[in-house]
Amino acid sequence: MKAKITVLAGDGVGPEVTDEACKVLEAIADQFGRNIEFTDASIGGRAIDEFGTALPEETVEFCLESDAVLLGAVGGPKWDDPNASVRPEQGLLGLRKALGVFANLRPVRVYKELAKSGPLKEELVANVDLLVIRELTGGIYFGERGRRPDPSGEFAFDTMGYSTGEVERIVRLAAGKAKGRRNKLTSVDKANVLEVSRLWRSTAARVMQDEFADVEFEHGLVDAAAMHLIQRPADFDVIVTGNLFGDILTDEASVLAGSMGLLPSASLGTSGPGLYEPIHGSAPDIAGKDIANPIGMILSAAMLCRESLGWAKEADCIESAVEKVIQSGVRTPDLVRANEPTVSTKEMGISIVSAVRELSVSSMVA
Ligand code: NAD
Ligand code: IPM
Ligand code: MN
Repeated sequence: MKAKITVLAGDGVGPEVTDEACKVLEAIADQFGRNIEFTDASIGGRAIDEFGTALPEETVEFCLESDAVLLGAVGGPKWDDPNASVRPEQGLLGLRKALGVFANLRPVRVYKELAKSGPLKEELVANVDLLVIRELTGGIYFGERGRRPDPSGEFAFDTMGYSTGEVERIVRLAAGKAKGRRNKLTSVDKANVLEVSRLWRSTAARVMQDEFADVEFEHGLVDAAAMHLIQRPADFDVIVTGNLFGDILTDEASVLAGSMGLLPSASLGTSGPGLYEPIHGSAPDIAGKDIANPIGMILSAAMLCRESLGWAKEADCIESAVEKVIQSGVRTPDLVRANEPTVSTKEMGISIVSAVRELSVSSMVA
């Protein structure tokens, strides 16, 4: 059987990190006797330049016909004009909606060797192993929006809304994941102010009481949760939250791991292909320099193997390879303090590919 993967490299560092993830997947296919067919397609700024739209229909068709989609990043200063009628980010949002991937899984684990080098105290981050589950196809990202004249100029609005059904399905999914981990779920909202959050909170409480009474459950307000995430991050197991809060809290959580470049994600629906992308963006400040960290993208490829292809051994192999390379001291510039030795994006990729080859041989011998 052939695994069909659509590759949307996108903009900025997107193509640089995606190349390395594809090399890792090719090594996995070689080592484990798997067959992968990659199809490249356009999204984001590159698609605007080529087709005048951030999400060509052809791209959506390729994605829907594949087993999984691997996406680098979209966006950049070239397409940032606030008055532009098309924006790269619309491509990504449209794709998430078209694939129906309502659950965005963003795991945050801290490698022991990196706990020392980040901005936070080592003892604070050493035991962090959490999973943020961000609702991805609803909330303020997809609500009614617009502008109208106002005596002062204009008035602009975006609306946040969630239905009972949208909250139920994401909370169920998150509670199920918690059961397979440390059995603890934290739902994050802003129920002291927002009506949407009050529906979110009461729905989450009901689902948990009726269906997951054995899972330890708490609610938290997003402002305090943002603080607790830095103050006592190891206390969290699974966090479930809405689209906007999840976006913000996961960039914050990347500081626990040591860099934005480290965090992967998997976006899943009830059926159809999953979408796999690092949590970072196109990083225009470092694009084209061969210095972006490809690990978030490579770990996203591992999630793709596990979640969409059912290749658990292969996923474990990629994750162990990344761990081994980090243990051996190989670092892209985002992971070091000034004047420490670093490698390029490509060199990091080569190290991880070699580790995949070594580990897969030893796992087969064992
Ligand atoms: P960003 O995530 O691109 O970058 C934030 C910071 O993290 C930058 O300093 C960058 O150099 C660093 N960084 C990001 N990825 C890195 C990596 N792999 N290795 C090392 N350092 C890395 O966020 P931004 O600068 O706010 O946004 C830039 C563009 O990306 C915007 O157009 C935004 O809309 C877009 N964006 C896209 C996605 C996506 O495609 N999923 C996600 C976030 C932002
Ligand atoms: C992310 C990004 C996107 C989001 C943008 C680029 C639309 O920040 O994937 O985290 O806000 O979802
Ligand atoms: Mn984001």
